[in-house]
Amino acid sequence: MYSFEEVFYPNYAKVQAVNNQLAFPLALSSELKKSDMIRVTFKGKPLVLLRLEHSIKAFLDRCPHRGYPLSKGCIKGNNIVCSYHGWAFDSDGRLVDLPGDPNFLSGSSSLLQEFKVVEKDGVIWGSESAIDIEEVFTPSVKGTHDRASIVRYIRANKVDIAENFLDALHTHTVHTGIVRSSRPKHRCSVLVESIENGYQAEYTEEDTQTGFLGKLFGGKVLKSIGRIRYPGIIEIEYLSKNDIEMSVVVYIVEESKYLCKLIMRTYLKKTRVPFLMKALLLAPIQLMVFNQDKRVLERQAESLKRNSDFRPLIGRADVMRSCIEKTFAQEFVAYKKNIELCL
Ligand code: FES
Ligand SMILES: [Fe+2]
Repeated sequence: MYSFEEVFYPNYAKVQAVNNQLAFPLALSSELKKSDMIRVTFKGKPLVLLRLEHSIKAFLDRCPHRGYPLSKGCIKGNNIVCSYHGWAFDSDGRLVDLPGDPNFLSGSSSLLQEFKVVEKDGVIWGSESAIDIEEVFTPSVKGTHDRASIVRYIRANKVDIAENFLDALHTHTVHTGIVRSSRPKHRCSVLVESIENGYQAEYTEEDTQTGFLGKLFGGKVLKSIGRIRYPGIIEIEYLSKNDIEMSVVVYIVEESKYLCKLIMRTYLKKTRVPFLMKALLLAPIQLMVFNQDKRVLERQAESLKRNSDFRPLIGRADVMRSCIEKTFAQEFVAYKKNIELCL
């Protein structure tokens, strides 16, 4: 067992500045239809997101009257109506209707706690900072690739979920034959290093990937990079000599300690083969892999709930575990290390 300090000790002292103004991913744009509202979670707080005529608004999902969730109400015009006693609020949070009070006068100040939100590149982001959200994470592939997105939930904690996406060694056992063959076969050198707001592991394999997925899409893949960035964004790129062939980006939205929403986006390089055809081939495989991961993660979570004193053993081959824990704890340590693995 190796602690973070033992493995990463050489540069441990140098700590990067933490950006407290970072925005958090809340939802995929397509989750929020026009004139609709949904409940999302932002840093453990329930928010209601509303898509109005010309804007998106976010308020604490709690009616100031009796604390009923506003997201269970409805939107009428540009107002939110609570479905318990019918109090109605305008888009700035002012009370504009109070059924049953004949002398009611509209309020002049907001009764709702508002949060900053911005919609960018198909994702809705939130911030509690008073300043406007200017910069949000954008994947390195963007317009050069076609994209498909889905939202799924896993009943497990964010650290274990993030590790599962970034861990290569479980692919032999959990996804036998799909991602890799049943036994580690060839040597691989892994460069783990710090990046802005997180860490990455770059895998250079001596051979191409051994499983079905590798044969289908990874024939030309020579290198892959797995990244984690605060507040929980995973980016996995599969690179050929000159290009990113495929990239998977996962936004982990923590709903509670053992429940996370995952916004998952797959980017494929534009080629002569139509994207729809590639997506139709890839989607069932990705879904099968996802369901295999979901099953092990939820079993693991059930086990952890019954063993609250459990502390994981971190081996030398668990190249990203400590980085993931550090990222979520916003501890960014300047770091660079080469590790040999067998994959
Ligand atoms: S709790 Fe919302 S109107 Fe009463
Ligand atoms: Fe997996």
